[in-house]
Amino acid sequence: MRCKQCNDKGLIIKYNDKKNIYAVPCDCIRKKRDLSLYEKSGLSPLLREATFDKFDFSYYSTQKIDEVKGLSYAETARITFKAAKKFVERFLKGRYTRGLLFTGSVGSGKTFLAACIANSVIKQGGEVLFIVVPDWLDQIRFTYGIKHANNFQYSHETTEMQLMEKAKNVQLLILDDLGAHNYTEWTKNKLYSVINYRLNYKLATVVTTNLMEDIAEHLGERTASRLYQMCDLYRLLVDTDIRYANKLKYRI
Ligand SMILES: Nc1ncnc2c1ncn2[C@@H]1O[C@H](COP(=O)(O)OP(=O)(O)O)[C@@H](O)[C@H]1O
Ligand SMILES: [Mg+2]
Ligand SMILES: [Zn+2]
Repeated sequence: MRCKQCNDKGLIIKYNDKKNIYAVPCDCIRKKRDLSLYEKSGLSPLLREATFDKFDFSYYSTQKIDEVKGLSYAETARITFKAAKKFVERFLKGRYTRGLLFTGSVGSGKTFLAACIANSVIKQGGEVLFIVVPDWLDQIRFTYGIKHANNFQYSHETTEMQLMEKAKNVQLLILDDLGAHNYTEWTKNKLYSVINYRLNYKLATVVTTNLMEDIAEHLGERTASRLYQMCDLYRLLVDTDIRYANKLKYRI
């Protein structure tokens, strides 16, 4: 649809007190950029609503202690939250930034915080791809099937290679739910290939997982060691899955 403010010129003509003409950029440019970045990001509508200012610290216990760090769940959450904000700042400055690996219990806000990062980066003009790992692997398997069943008839469809290339080269990749799924050797290799590429090209990656020390067991040693090399580890812990806690709170 044509912009009524600027007629798609991207500039709005104005006059100052002395009747001199000047132009200001129209807001539609930013909106179009955001829209296009959002379309490319793969963020679901629900996750598009996750922003740092909505991050609620009251879910994290000040009493319970994270045995690994010797800190309360609340302190751990504060540190993790700070690291997420700092990451965005550094990333947007264009400096090489180490990635983040969020681990912790189910329903502790890992995906929520990763989505906060994604939204903040997109709003400031950065390119993000948010991948829900099990869905992405399904997608890759599916496109692989098409290619081989139909003698490349579907060249206009998204191919496995396009999916892989996007994940490898996007400015910021978020791998959500790199969890305890049933990985085959084939899917493990796909993930290794993406992670290894991003490590070598110094591209930032944010990962959420509910695996703790057993990443290597599920994804293999070579992928796990690369993840540790390129990401700083942060934890988010809760007593009760926040989804469940919300149900009790609102009595849904
Ligand atoms: N710190 C938080 N503040 C507000 N809502 C949160 C917070 N953490 C999680 N949530 C909400 O709780 C639910 C579960 O969080 P999610 O990030 O999906 O958990 P995880 O990925 O750790 O399993 C989601 O509906 C999310 O919106
Ligand atoms: Mg999650
Ligand atoms: Zn306009």
